[in-house]
Amino acid sequence: MSLRNCGSLCKADIGQTVQVRGWVNRRRDHGGVIFVDLRDRSGLVQVTFSQAIEAAAHSRANELRSEFVIALSGRVIARTPENINPAMATGEIEIEGQELTLLNTARTPPISVADEQEVDEAIRLRYRYLDLRRDKLQKNLILRSNITRRVREYLYEQDFLEIETPLLTRSTPEGARDYLVPSRVKPGRFYALPQSPQLFKQLLMVAGYEKYFQIAKCFRDEDLRADRQPEFTQIDIEQSFADEKAIMTLVNGLLARILPLIGKTYPAQVPEISYADALNFYGSDAPDLRFDLRLIDISEIAAQSELKDFREVVDRGGIVKAINVKKADGRLSRRELDAYKDFVGKFGAKGLAWITIRENELNSPIAKFFTQAQLDAIIQKTGGEVGDILLFVADTRKVVHDALGRLRCLIARDLQLYTPQEFKFCWVVRFPLFEQNAEGKLTSVHHPFTKPLDDKFDEHTLAAAYDIVLNGVELGGGSLRIYRAEEQQKVFAALGIGAEEAREKFGFLLEAFQYGAPPHGGVALGLDRLVMLLSGAESIRDVIAFPKTKSAECLLTEAPSVVALEQLQELGLKSSEPA
Ligand code: AMO
Ligand code: AMP
Repeated sequence: MSLRNCGSLCKADIGQTVQVRGWVNRRRDHGGVIFVDLRDRSGLVQVTFSQAIEAAAHSRANELRSEFVIALSGRVIARTPENINPAMATGEIEIEGQELTLLNTARTPPISVADEQEVDEAIRLRYRYLDLRRDKLQKNLILRSNITRRVREYLYEQDFLEIETPLLTRSTPEGARDYLVPSRVKPGRFYALPQSPQLFKQLLMVAGYEKYFQIAKCFRDEDLRADRQPEFTQIDIEQSFADEKAIMTLVNGLLARILPLIGKTYPAQVPEISYADALNFYGSDAPDLRFDLRLIDISEIAAQSELKDFREVVDRGGIVKAINVKKADGRLSRRELDAYKDFVGKFGAKGLAWITIRENELNSPIAKFFTQAQLDAIIQKTGGEVGDILLFVADTRKVVHDALGRLRCLIARDLQLYTPQEFKFCWVVRFPLFEQNAEGKLTSVHHPFTKPLDDKFDEHTLAAAYDIVLNGVELGGGSLRIYRAEEQQKVFAALGIGAEEAREKFGFLLEAFQYGAPPHGGVALGLDRLVMLLSGAESIRDVIAFPKTKSAECLLTEAPSVVALEQLQELGLKSSEPA
C-alpha cells in the first residue's frame, strides 16, 4: 500500500490500494453510498464508502463533516463512463474507501472552503488559515513560491550572491515614514526597520561582493492601497561596474525566466520611454500601454478661444489637454460623462469638458466658445472622426496629467479597450533627479543615492534611473549610484541636507566611499506586485499569506496590540494613548 497525494491519482493507479490524508472538502450522502471529496495541497479525489462493501467505514463516514481531517486507505477504481467528471483532474477514478481514521474534527467553518463564493474580506482575513485553504489563494501562493525559486535559480546562474542585511537598523530614506523599534539597552534610542536594503547593498559593493541579491522584507509606514502593504518583499539587486544597460538586461532576463510560469513569453524588445514622454502622452510615469488613448496638447488653440476657463489657465502657465475616445458616441452616456467629471475632480480638475463629433454637427457645451477654424484645428490635432468623444481638462500641468492619466485608464477599463490578460511591459528612463515639493523644496524622485547625469543641479537635471512598468503598475525601479563622497555631499546639499545632518545620518556611507568604492548600480522589483499581476489578483493582499488591512492591522493576530505597562517602562517609553 502506498502513501499518495490526492491530486496525483490517475488511471494508471487503477487496481492499487493507496493511503491518502487530507480534509473533507464535501460529503454527499446517497443512502447506501457516501461520497467524500478529499482535499490536500495537490488537489481533490473522490472517495466512496459503500454500506454493502465496508459497513464499518461507511458508518464512520456518516459522521464526517466539512473540513474534518482524515486518513484513509482504499482501492483506486475506474469510474463508470457516466460518472466521469472532466472538470476534476482526478475525475476518471475514485477510491473505494476501506479503512477510515478520523484525525481531527472541525467546527463549521465561517468561510466555505469548497465553494468560490464572495466573502467579506474582513472575515477572510480574520480566518486567514481557512481562506488560505481555498483554491484561488493556494494557486497564488504556489505561483509565488515558484517565481521565488526561479529568481534564485536565475540570479545564482548569473553569479550573484544571496546576502542578508539587517532588519534592526537606521532609517533608509525611500520617501515613506519609518517603523521604529525602541532599544531597551539604550533607552531613548530607536532602530528603524529598513524601507529597503539600499544602504547595505551599496556598502556590500564597497566591500567587494560585486553581485548581490536578496529576497528582502521592506517596511514603509505609508498610505496603503491595493498595490501597497506596510511590509512587502523586494527582489533586491546590486552590481558593481555595471551600466544602466547591464542592469536592465539582467531584469529582462529575469522576467523572461519567470513569465513561462504563467504560459507567457517576455518580449524580445521592451519599449523604452522617457519620463518626459510618459507624462506628456500618458499623464503618468507608469504608463499603461495596453491601449493608446494619448493625451493631446491643445493649449495653443485654447489660448485663442473665448472659453475663459481654458484661456485663463493657459495665461497662468497651465495647459489644456484632450483625449479622444474613439467611437464612444452612444457608448458613453451623459450620466457616465458626469461620473468621469467627478472622477477627475478627485485629482484636482475643476471640470471635464467634452465634444461629441456627429455627422455635420458637434454636440458640446463648449463648442460655441471656439471659432470654426479653432474647432477644425482641435479635431485635426486629436484625429477626431464622427462618433468620437473628445474630453478636455484645463489646469496646471500636474493636475491635467494626473486627471487625464487616470481617466484614460478608467475609460479603457469601462469600454474594454484591452483584454485584461494582455501584458505590456515598458522601461521608463531619463527620470529627473529631483522634483519640487509643495513648499518649493527639491526632493529626490528615486532616492538621494541616485547618480545625476549632469553636474549642475536643478529640477531639470536627469538621473541615471529606470523603472520597469507592467500594465500601468511600477514593478520595480533602480539606478546607477553616486560612489564619490563629494558628489554625494553635493546632492545632499541640493536636497537641503546640511553637512552636519549628512554626517550624522549617512556618515558611514560617505566614509565608506573614501575607501575605494567601485561604480555600481542596482534595482529592486516588488515581488508582491509581480505575483499580483502575474496571477491576475486584484490586490497584493491576495498574494501574501498573512497581509494587513488598509489600516495596517492584522485581523488574525490583532496586531498592532496594546502592551503591558512594564514593557513600556523597560523601554523607557510612556504612551500618550489610554490603554
Ligand atoms: P522603490 O522604492 O521604487 O525602490 O521600490 C522598489 C519596488 O518595490 C515595490 N514597492 C512596494 N510593494 C508593495 N508595497 C509597498 N508599500 C511598496 N513600496 C515599493 C514596488 C517598487 O517598484 N532601494 C530602491 C531600489 C533601488 O534603487 O535599487 C527602492 O526601494 O514594486
Ligand atoms: P462653464 O461655462 O464654466 O460652465 O464650463 C463649460 C464646460 O467646461 C463645462 O462642461 C465644464 O465642466 C468645463 N470646464 C470648466 N472648467 C474646466 C477645466 N478647468 N478643465 C476642463 N473643463 C472645464
